[in-house]
Amino acid sequence: MIVKFVLNGELVSPDLDPSRRLIDILRDDFFLTGAKEGCGEGECGSCTVLMDGLPVHSCLVLAGQLEGHEVLTVEGLAQNGELDLLQNAFVENNAVHCGFCTPGMIMSAKGLLMKNPDPTEAEIREALSGNICRCSDYRQIVMAVKDAAKRLQEVSL
Ligand code: FES
Repeated sequence: MIVKFVLNGELVSPDLDPSRRLIDILRDDFFLTGAKEGCGEGECGSCTVLMDGLPVHSCLVLAGQLEGHEVLTVEGLAQNGELDLLQNAFVENNAVHCGFCTPGMIMSAKGLLMKNPDPTEAEIREALSGNICRCSDYRQIVMAVKDAAKRLQEVSL
């Protein structure tokens, strides 16, 4: 079936088997390999992307659910070759270790900051609670999101 949806700001209309998973469509059809498959069953968060501004596990979203929706992946954040504010905050706070969970972490954090640009630490931890990192202690990740929120406040003042 032809499925029309917006992917990183562009209208796309691929011909898809409705039972295919979004993570496979992104990686195999659109060569957007930022979203990673960890568990494949909605537990680890490494495949997180935004759908209509809300974080979703792309391993659990099927092609038949995409019609008319807007999908944003980590590749859609940088503009004109420049990382966005949140990506820069991850780099500057050393919040990237092996990097496998990073795109999912960033997209969950992006979803949070889009609805709540001034979150508390508890709200950041809650928003990232579905994203598992196996090689850091989360402190730098939380600091990066706090830092991005602070910069967002400065930009909007
Ligand atoms: Fe989707 Fe783990 S791969 S939540």
